[in-house]
Amino acid sequence: MSSPLLQAGPVERTHLPDVFDPRIHAAGPPHDAFRELRDRAPVARQEERAVLGWPAGPGFWAVTRHADVVRVLKDPGTYSSWLGATQIRDPDPADLPFIRRMMLNQDPPEHGRLRRLASRAFTPGRIARFEATARARARRLLAAARQTGGEVDLVRTVTDDYALLNLTDLLGVPAGDRGLLHAWTERVIAYQDPDEPAVLGAGGRPVDPRSPAMLAEMFAYAQELAAHKRRHPADDLMTALATTELADAELEMFFFLLTVAGNDTVRSAAPGGVLALGEDPGEQGRFWRGEAGTDTAVEELLRVHPPVLSFRRTAARDAELAGTRISEGDKVVVFHVSANHDERVFADPHRLDLDRRPNPHVSFGDGPHVCLGAHFARLQLRVFYEELRESCAGVELAGAPRRLVSNFINGIKSLPVRLREP
Ligand code: HEM
Repeated sequence: MSSPLLQAGPVERTHLPDVFDPRIHAAGPPHDAFRELRDRAPVARQEERAVLGWPAGPGFWAVTRHADVVRVLKDPGTYSSWLGATQIRDPDPADLPFIRRMMLNQDPPEHGRLRRLASRAFTPGRIARFEATARARARRLLAAARQTGGEVDLVRTVTDDYALLNLTDLLGVPAGDRGLLHAWTERVIAYQDPDEPAVLGAGGRPVDPRSPAMLAEMFAYAQELAAHKRRHPADDLMTALATTELADAELEMFFFLLTVAGNDTVRSAAPGGVLALGEDPGEQGRFWRGEAGTDTAVEELLRVHPPVLSFRRTAARDAELAGTRISEGDKVVVFHVSANHDERVFADPHRLDLDRRPNPHVSFGDGPHVCLGAHFARLQLRVFYEELRESCAGVELAGAPRRLVSNFINGIKSLPVRLREP
């Protein structure tokens, strides 16, 4: 089957909107551009221009419709996480073998071994035992925020600490070391953001934050922590991982993956959800009065504000997707944020409907790599929204959010709000 796009001339193609430039996303997800791509070119060629000191790349296919995003994520035989790893930017070829030690960057069947070992550590019981701790933490942070009386930055006063401290507890990182984790994740996730100064290497080029050189400190720490847990086992993830058959190198990578995947995602989701509630006082009111289900609200807030904007795959063979020919070796990038707003699947996709059901959003991905921490993330978010509702009579936005400059994480750096007196 040949689509009109295959026949489209180069001029028409160059007029497709750009969704690559990380600076575009700092103004909020470019929903109009995504809609145009979904309608006109659901698998659209994107240029990868040099930006923010990073060199130009070969370009990629942007996949924007829900059905195609799911198709790509469920077909690792065609769309590989291993060939070029999972970030839009190509890694330095010398770093690729190293990056592939992480299960995120593997394909079945190899991926299955690490995934099974990790799943055993993420038992539902361990996550459920965590609820009381998360609740007490949310309550304490929100009470402190309310003490300020007027306007507060919800990110700085509540949600950043909430996400980080929950994760460090689950991992079993001692309280004194939590700041280290924060600094390491910032470096990896915020590397496109001008607020996070890039580390420059030879020739003044930024050093890839996922390279072995940048991660040495974190890996040494992971080994130390694992050795400590073997001597002093506790009910935490690092104890569970350190006592499995994971090789040392795999354990280090796991620690890195969990630190990054588990922190910035929840750190984005919590203020993102509050922003959506603040923008829709009607739905917020229904939630406060208990008229909307908490579980469906958590899902809907994740749909409208997906913490992960995109993930990359590489074509392992020639393929066709939505009528577009993809060649072996091409980069294929799925945009979760666009899939979640696809009008082919979600009625009135820009309306916040806290009772939306079904809600097949792809914020946690799909296929073999579907988020391993989804259960833990949902618990944290549910507890956070419940405690927010308990702590105040409602949330008013007191200014515009400041967003992360990134085409990967839908980050919110600050969110000024007023918490109304109960
Ligand atoms: C709202 C919060 C979260 C969101 C939106 C999210 C999203 C995602 C997505 C989209 C993927 C798929 C990656 C791919 O397709 O290549 C993923 C994978 C993963 N996530 Fe999450 N995540 C969240 C929270 C967490 C938490 C709290 C943890 C751990 C503590 C975690 C651990 C992981 C791991 C280990 C993987 C890799 C799974 C694999 O490769 O098999 N995530 N996440």
